[in-house]
Amino acid sequence: MPALVKLFLTSSNPGKLKEYRFLADTAANSVSIELALLPEFESLPAFEENAPTFAENAAGKALHYSRLQEGLVFADDSGLVVPALGGAPGVHSARYAGVHAANSERIEKLLREMLDKRGQDRAAYFVCATALARKGRALAVVTDRVDGEILESPRGAGGFGYDPVFYFPALKKTFAELLPEEKNLHSHRGKAFRKLLAALSSML
Ligand code: IMP
Repeated sequence: MPALVKLFLTSSNPGKLKEYRFLADTAANSVSIELALLPEFESLPAFEENAPTFAENAAGKALHYSRLQEGLVFADDSGLVVPALGGAPGVHSARYAGVHAANSERIEKLLREMLDKRGQDRAAYFVCATALARKGRALAVVTDRVDGEILESPRGAGGFGYDPVFYFPALKKTFAELLPEEKNLHSHRGKAFRKLLAALSSML
């Protein structure tokens, strides 16, 4: 019988919970993961994600909430990096076009900024940092990425965020054209989370 481990996700977003549950259920692992949203997440003192790196934001968030919640606390931070734009949108991916902007506005801004970029200058990657903490101690922080390129116009109806303009050459599709199983297999989030689970199982 695999060991059963409960993780509290530092989010109030049921969509994120669903995605991580799917990843946990499909990962070949000796640990069986029970994932739950951190109780009362919205009413706890918030963690400001202002660090310059994904890893610092994820680790900082996991540490912060692990001082407020018993047990194992899990956090992530992710975003899109375009080297030809000096790393933008980067850690500002979610608020690239302003805090209240829609996905379509973020994509429009990105495509505008990239109008003069050709060939290798359209290279981009998604990054996901995941972190696990307990009682103010970091147990693991892992980061992974997936490489692709930014198209000149959106394609596909699935996924979220920048997926419609992120072309993944290995499957010749944008992330918005992938089946959820395909995206989970190849995505920055899937890869980082599986690494974190492997780190967790080596600690048990
Ligand atoms: P956070 O990790 O919840 O802070 O989200 C970071 C932001 O990065 C999201 O709002 C998206 O704009 C972008 N992002 C992160 N991962 C993905 C992805 O898999 N597809 C598309 N956009 C993503």
